[in-house]
Amino acid sequence: MSTAIINIGELTSWDAERPVRSDAALVIEDGIVAWVGDARDVPAADEVIDADGAAVIPGFVDSHTHLIFAGDRSAEFAARMAGEPYVAGGIRTTVAATRAAGQAELTRLATARLAELRAQGTTTVEIKSGYGLDVATEELLLQVASQLTDETTFLGAHVVPPELSASDYVELVTGEMLDRCAPYAKWVDVFCETGAFDADQARAVLSAGAAVGLIPRVHANQLGYGPGVQLACELGASAADHCTYLSDADVSALAETGVVAGLLPGVEFSTRHPYPDARRLLDAGVRISIATDCNPGTSYTSSMAFCVALAVREMGLTPSEALHAATVGGATSLRREDVGHLRVGARADLVILDAPSHVHLAYRPGVPLVRTVLVAGR
Ligand code: NIG
Ligand code: FE
Repeated sequence: MSTAIINIGELTSWDAERPVRSDAALVIEDGIVAWVGDARDVPAADEVIDADGAAVIPGFVDSHTHLIFAGDRSAEFAARMAGEPYVAGGIRTTVAATRAAGQAELTRLATARLAELRAQGTTTVEIKSGYGLDVATEELLLQVASQLTDETTFLGAHVVPPELSASDYVELVTGEMLDRCAPYAKWVDVFCETGAFDADQARAVLSAGAAVGLIPRVHANQLGYGPGVQLACELGASAADHCTYLSDADVSALAETGVVAGLLPGVEFSTRHPYPDARRLLDAGVRISIATDCNPGTSYTSSMAFCVALAVREMGLTPSEALHAATVGGATSLRREDVGHLRVGARADLVILDAPSHVHLAYRPGVPLVRTVLVAGR
C-alpha cells in the first residue's frame, strides 16, 4: 500500500542537504517514508493526498508529559496569577485525586488527553508515572501508560508522600516499587530539586533504575540553581529536563556530555518563572528539545505549537530552530531515530498544516493550524 502526498508547498524533512524545501512531494509505503522529492517528479502511488500548497512537518515528539492523573488544580494556578509562588508540594494534591481514581477512570482521562495531543500534531509522546507515590498506584499508572505509548517513565521519585520519611521512601522507590514498575518502563526519572529529592537521593534512584535496565532522565534545575544537571551529566542520562536555572558549568557539562537539555516553556508560562535561555544553550553547542510537560500543576497544555511559539518569542529561537527542537530534539531525547524527521526510512508521522509555512506555528500563536495528522502513514 503506497500513498503519495502531492502539492506540498513547503516540506520540512530535516534532510541534511535540504532540511526545508518548497514544491515537494512525499511517498509513504507500508507506513514508512519511501520517497521525498520535487512535486513534479512524484512517482505513482495507490492513493493520493493533495496538500494543496500547504506546509508539511514531521509530527511533534513530546518527550516529557505527566498525562496520567486525576483532579484539577486551576485554583492553584489562579492563586499564582494573583502572586502566590509555585511550590513542589502541590503535587500531593494530584496524588490524592489520582489514588482515589480507579484504573478505568485513569485510562479514560489519559486516553482523552492523548487524543487532544494527537489532534494538535503530536505523534510520539513520553508519559511518566509520579502521581501515585505508592507501589500499587505507581504500577497502575505505568500499566495505563504502557497501553498508550512505548515511551514510559518511572517517576516514583516525584516527591516524598505525606505518609513516609524521605529515607524510607527512597528505599521503597529503589526496592519494591522499582521491581513492580520496571517491567512497564523504558526510563527512570527523578525530581532533583529543593522540596523534592537532593543529589544523593536522586543518584540512588537513577542508579537503581539503571541497574535494572531503565535509562535515566532527570527533572533538573527547574525552580532554582542546583545539582540536577550535573547529576544527569555524571550518570550519562539521556536528558536533563527544565534547565531553567543554569550556571556556566552546567551549560559546559551539557555541551561536553551531549545530554539533551529539555526546555518546557509551558512551565514558565504557568509559574511566572523566567524562561530558559535556549539561545545560550544552542550557542554553546548543547542539544535541546522542547516539550509540553503536560501536567495539572505547572503546565496544563497539550499543545506543542504553543510551546514552539513561546520558544520563539521568549527563548531566543528562530521558528526553524524551535520546530527542530520539538521534533528532532524530542526524538534525540528519547533516543529514537525513526521519528522527528521525514527522511527516507522514517516512520511516516507527519502533519499537514493549514498554513503555507512552518513559520506560522509561531507567527499565528493559538490558532489551530493542524489540518491532517498521519501516524505511520495512517
Ligand atoms: O514537571 N517538576 C516536577 N513535576 C512537574 C510538576 C508537577 C506538579 O506540580 O504537579 C513538572 O513541572
Ligand atoms: Fe515534568
